Amino acid sequence: MPLSFVSPFMFLKAINIVLATILATAISFSGNVHALSGQTVIDSPLLTQKIGTNRTIKVDINGKGDFTSIQEAINAVPENNSRWIIIHVRKGVYREKVHIPNNKPYIFMRGNGRGRTALVWSMSSVDNKASATFTVESPHFIAFGISFKNEAPTGVAFTSQNQSVAAFVGADMIAFYHCAFYSTHNTLFDYKGRHYYHNCYIQGSIDFIFGRARSIFHSCELFVIEDLRVKILGSITAHNRESDDDSGFVFVKGKVYGIGNVYLGRAKGAYSRTVFAKAYLSNSVAPQGWTNWSYNGSTENIFQAEYKCHGPGAYSANRAEWTKQLTEEEAERFMSIGFIDGQQWLPVWH
Ligand SMILES: *[C@@H]1O[C@H](CO)[C@@H](O)[C@H](O)[C@H]1NC(C)=O
Ligand SMILES: *[C@@H]1O[C@H](CO)[C@@H](O)[C@H](O)[C@H]1NC(C)=O
Ligand SMILES: *[C@@H]1O[C@H](CO)[C@@H](O)[C@H](O)[C@H]1NC(C)=O
Ligand SMILES: *[C@@H]1O[C@H](CO)[C@@H](O)[C@H](O)[C@H]1NC(C)=O
Ligand SMILES: *[C@@H]1O[C@H](CO)[C@@H](O)[C@H](O)[C@H]1NC(C)=O
Repeated sequence: MPLSFVSPFMFLKAINIVLATILATAISFSGNVHALSGQTVIDSPLLTQKIGTNRTIKVDINGKGDFTSIQEAINAVPENNSRWIIIHVRKGVYREKVHIPNNKPYIFMRGNGRGRTALVWSMSSVDNKASATFTVESPHFIAFGISFKNEAPTGVAFTSQNQSVAAFVGADMIAFYHCAFYSTHNTLFDYKGRHYYHNCYIQGSIDFIFGRARSIFHSCELFVIEDLRVKILGSITAHNRESDDDSGFVFVKGKVYGIGNVYLGRAKGAYSRTVFAKAYLSNSVAPQGWTNWSYNGSTENIFQAEYKCHGPGAYSANRAEWTKQLTEEEAERFMSIGFIDGQQWLPVWH
């Protein structure tokens, strides 16, 4: 082989090795290797490769798959499933309520993108869980590229204060990538367990992310809509923590904006814990930032905190007095995938 033919390739290879070495050195000296970086792009082929399966059930609303309903596909997953199985939901609007029971772990529900595959139902109830369009109660669940929507007309002037949950997430080790959650009142019931939300869009007016889970929301978009019932300020989060346990909602990067005016969080439970770090906060965020409503007690154990947020809503001079602006040391543990032990169970991190 002529040398001139070989050398450009060899040269590139050499450069790659040098770059890889520099990168490896940079990572090993950055202290926390599990720090969340804004550049991480996690797509469906990467997830599929990481979970290493070829078992796929196809759902196609036009009849060109194994099933036309998502629930039928879930029903076809064997009880006590122990190997990853892909449920590929082709584009379309699927009008049904879907429930993944606690004996069906290792399901990867893959849509064709949140603008193309949607799961929609319409129900409001005084019982949050009962109203949910999508309910997952099994550990080891992944969703990618799907919209979850509850269309019930809550938030309409002079109607009752019923809830309309788009998704109920009630088990450990669950991740959503590039998904969207639409409703008004109580959109995402992040009930319990360790969860990871990556590049998701979440919309609502009052308490639209609530529960007592331990969750990281990485680069998510929170869109605030108006509540038309009464002139009260809603709240993005209502984290419910009754004691000093390891739960908490952490928002890293991403943005808060919209057409309403809200608090970042309200204290539900004496130990309610929510952190916004390096996020963009628009004018939709009230100057006080956080509220102690409806918790009637000492605020000393409430952890409502921000770290290096930016944008007009991040101005901190008028923040409620018990809230915190964290130092770099205090913020570090929340900005690491280790907060949810992700290096042990998230497909792309371990
Ligand atoms: C799926 O993977 C298994 C094990 O790696 C292999 O034996 C089987 O042939 C594969 N099936 C298909 C349809 O590729
Ligand atoms: C699944 O596991 C449960 C609990 O271990 C057991 O009671 C049940 O019989 C199992 N079902 C099947 C189909 O193996
Ligand atoms: C509120 O929920 C209850 C059931 O929990 C239902 O009977 C009632 O119709 C709902 N109200 C509205 C306005 O949807
Ligand atoms: C708050 O607690 C105080 C003292 O325990 C009580 O008097 C008051 O009624 C409570 N307020 C509300 C709104 O629950
Ligand atoms: C709750 O918030 C209100 C309004 O900011 C404030 O006046 C009150 O002191 C707070 N309660 C406690 C216990 O800090």
